[in-house]
Amino acid sequence: MRVAAFVSGRGSNMIALAEACAEAGFPADMALVFSNVPDAGGLERASSLGIATAALSHRDFGKDREAHERGIDKIMHEHEIDLICLAGYMRLLTPWFVETWRDRMINIHPSLLPAFKGLETHERVLAEGAKWHGCSVHFVRPAMDEGPIVAQAAVPVAADDDADTLAARVLTAEHQLYPHALRLVASGAVRVEGERVVAQGSTLPEIAYNPPLKE
Ligand code: GRF
Repeated sequence: MRVAAFVSGRGSNMIALAEACAEAGFPADMALVFSNVPDAGGLERASSLGIATAALSHRDFGKDREAHERGIDKIMHEHEIDLICLAGYMRLLTPWFVETWRDRMINIHPSLLPAFKGLETHERVLAEGAKWHGCSVHFVRPAMDEGPIVAQAAVPVAADDDADTLAARVLTAEHQLYPHALRLVASGAVRVEGERVVAQGSTLPEIAYNPPLKE
C-alpha cells in the first residue's frame, strides 16, 4: 500500500510512520510527504530520509479551497497513493476531498475521541481536571475530528502536569499508536462497517491494544 503523509509543521508523527514503513514486512510504503506549507520542517525531514515530497500552498488559491484540494488530489494520483495519513495537517479539508478519499484517509488527534475535539486539547483536559488523556487514530469524515476510530492510546494526567508536559506524554503515545493503526489498516486487519471500525477475522484484541509507554 502506497501511503502519503500530510504535514503542516515539524512532522514528528510522519517520521514515526516513515520509520515503521521502513521496517521489513510492514504492509505500507511511505511514498510521499505532502504539505500545504512549502517551508514546513516535515518536508525537509522527509527529504533527508530519501522520501519524495510535494507542496502546494493554500495561499495560492485564495478562498477557493476546493481548487487547492483538486490540485492535491492530482498530486496523489501522480504518486499512485492508496491511503492518506494526516499527521499534523492543520487545514480542515472540504467535504469534496473527504468524500473522494472516504475510508482511504486517516488522522491522528491528541485526545481520546469523541472527547476534546478541536485545538488546545491538553489545556482543556487540564482545565476540566480529567485524569486520563490520550490520542486517537480515526478515519476522516467531513466534520472535524469525527469518524470511525481505528485505535486509541490512553495516558495518565499527572497532578503536576502543565500543557507542555502533558503534550509531551501524549506525543510519545502518538508515535507508537499511529504506526500501530496504520499497520491495522494497511494489512486489512480492520475495515469500516456501519461507521465503526471492526476486525477482519480474529484480530479484535489488537484494536483495543494500548501501546506500552516509553517515557
Ligand atoms: C500532533 O499532536 C497531532 O496529534 C496533531 O498535531 C500534532 C502534530 O505534531 N494533529 P507533529 O507535526 O506530528 O510533530
